[in-house]
Amino acid sequence: MSALFNLHDYEQAARERLSQMAYEYYAGGAEDEMTLRENRAIYERFKLAPRMLRAVAERDASTTLLGQPLKAPLLIAPMAFMKMAHPEGELAVARAAAARGLGMIVSTMATYAFDEITAAAPGGLRWFQLYAFKDRGLTRALVENAEAAGHKAVALTVDMPVLGRREADLRNQFGLPEGVIIKNIANLLSADQQSKAGGVLAYRSSERNDNLSWEDIDWLRSITRMPVLVKGILRADDARLAVEHGVAGVIVSNHGGRQLDGAVSTLEALPAIADAVGDQVALLVDGGIRRGTDWLKAMALGAHAVLLGRPALWGLAVNGEAGVGHVLDLLLAEFDMALALCGCHDVSEITRDLIFGMT
Ligand code: FNR
Ligand code: LAC
Repeated sequence: MSALFNLHDYEQAARERLSQMAYEYYAGGAEDEMTLRENRAIYERFKLAPRMLRAVAERDASTTLLGQPLKAPLLIAPMAFMKMAHPEGELAVARAAAARGLGMIVSTMATYAFDEITAAAPGGLRWFQLYAFKDRGLTRALVENAEAAGHKAVALTVDMPVLGRREADLRNQFGLPEGVIIKNIANLLSADQQSKAGGVLAYRSSERNDNLSWEDIDWLRSITRMPVLVKGILRADDARLAVEHGVAGVIVSNHGGRQLDGAVSTLEALPAIADAVGDQVALLVDGGIRRGTDWLKAMALGAHAVLLGRPALWGLAVNGEAGVGHVLDLLLAEFDMALALCGCHDVSEITRDLIFGMT
């Protein structure tokens, strides 16, 4: 493992270990992958203008988000089917995040039960990511089970009325390996319901509610005490609507380039959304964050915290909990270094003027 110095190294190492089907499912994007590439490329176009002579020997990246403490402003993004990367799947990711005081957003498509994840890392800060289904009773039961298992917020993903066209998955005839199931949905369904739907994997696509509207935010707020966030916003007017519908947070995301190809990169979309709602709700962003400096740029453009997606899967595939932990440690160290080199003592000093040309 000595050759693993950064998150890119982890992707290469994971690629060698995973089946082609699993690697391409995790790594891939929709259609021509323009948005997937753009999520990364945009970080090269925003440049930093660091402050000097700021006596930065003492630094502290800690923060609070929705009143919840974090050692640094980062949560693991919700990602489906973690058991496909490693037998310990979500359990390993939950342990690695909790051990570092970071958050995790557990996917509706998780492959371990809520209670198993909670038992693996009881002290960790976890939110639940919701896909709403045509069956409202099932959707509600999922939310209730997540709340009962100690999730501290629920993020409704809104960028997937239909599943994006990931052509690698079509070529590989993507399917779940034996023993990998969508556990928290399977736990709510009878064998009969499962076979009627054409198996639990149908809940990834045909059983999902493809008719969501803003009223569904109101409904979700009415069935849970958890604060509600909306994940997948790319426009300032949508962010304002979300605030009008009472959300506690907005996650600027294009689903890691897996949904609408050609959608704007998240870093480019972020500043206008920050101007519109950044002082009213928790504002998060994901997509393409691979370096501490990427993380700092996202914060400078208005995010209060970021989500880390695929690199967590690469760490998991390479070495389970220790691999995820090492990925997080590398990124935390880079972020701390970026703070020092930009003249920042804490996250409140990561302001927009640190981006060259912006004030
Ligand atoms: C995702 N993403 C995702 N989002 C969500 O709301 N629910 C989910 O179940 C999943 N599943 C999922 C699986 C895989 C393999 C990937 C790569 C992504 C999207 C995810 O939360 C996040 O928005 C992006 O992955 C962030 O981009 P990066 O960091 O992967 O570039
Ligand atoms: C994906 C879904 C399941 O991006 O969120 O694959």
